Amino acid sequence: MKVLLQVLALGILALPTFAAETDTAKERVGTVCAACHGMNGVSVADHIPNLAGQRAAYLTNQLESFRDGSRKSDIMKPIAEQLDGAELARLATHFSALPPAPSSAKSALLDTTSRTNVTLPSSFERGFKRYLVKNDADGKVVTHYYASNVAFAAAATGKPLPDGSGIYLVTYEAKLDADGNPTKGSDGNFIPNQVRSYTAMAREAGWGRDVPSVLRNENWNYAVFDAKREIRKSVNQAECLACHKPKAASSYLFLLNELTAAARK
Ligand code: HEC
Ligand code: HEC
Repeated sequence: MKVLLQVLALGILALPTFAAETDTAKERVGTVCAACHGMNGVSVADHIPNLAGQRAAYLTNQLESFRDGSRKSDIMKPIAEQLDGAELARLATHFSALPPAPSSAKSALLDTTSRTNVTLPSSFERGFKRYLVKNDADGKVVTHYYASNVAFAAAATGKPLPDGSGIYLVTYEAKLDADGNPTKGSDGNFIPNQVRSYTAMAREAGWGRDVPSVLRNENWNYAVFDAKREIRKSVNQAECLACHKPKAASSYLFLLNELTAAARK
């Protein structure tokens, strides 16, 4: 009788813990993994693998490999690094139990992580300062990097980029010569022809609120716009967030040093 009571007590004590763990796994799947792999383990894009129905041991092993870097992925590494071993195993078990899908199946983007607040200011080339030009000979494009005055002022004094900061990249087709090679201007950079696209990251108060912590870049949001300045709805902001996440110490910018150098001139 005493033993039975102990077993019952243990059972009752153990139950809530188990339920809490399942909730965490579900929450992670629903808010983080689903942004790329879909709620049901069927991914949102061709370059992202389906997880549904894959063997649990394989999935756990891949997650550990992303974490220790033996399998390289700029997107999965920062995600796997934030989860402990027990959670990786739980997520692997979760996805392996889901029915596999035909290769043509695709999940919809997750609203919380694909929705962005970034807009393209109509006159930003005037309101912003250019701090970098990068030529891409293979792609025959040239990209101009612009920062808002708020970002410039913070960079000049070595402060983290605050709300109100915006970084806008304009990618132009390079002007080509008769042989089809990019022509250079007097500054040594490719001469820009028509705009191909705009790539942006910007932050305002509250913009990070709906982003799950594993992906959140403080208040930064991301967006891409086409040559007609229309937002590319197919862009999965979760990928921008995941890859820029490890750059927290440099205000989530890869090239903060370039901005700082220009701002201090
Ligand atoms: C921002 C998008 C994104 C998010 C969010 C994301 N993944 Fe991934 N995942 C990828 C991409 C891209 C790959 C392919 C990586 C490569 O090999 O280049 C991948 C690969 C994997 C693989 C390897 C699959 C295989 O077939 O080898 C596993 C396992 C995995 N992810 C699990 C997860 C789990 C679990 C989560 C949630 C905690 C998650 N991922 C969240 C994008 C994402
Ligand atoms: C796989 C990693 C990766 C992903 C995904 C990614 N970026 Fe980046 N991003 C970089 C790297 C590396 C640089 C610096 C090199 C360069 O500018 O060419 C950069 C630079 C930038 C910059 C210039 C500011 C800076 O120094 O970081 C902006 C703005 C930007 N990315 C926006 C985006 C947007 C918008 C998305 C999503 C559509 C995105 N990025 C997705 C890796 C990534």
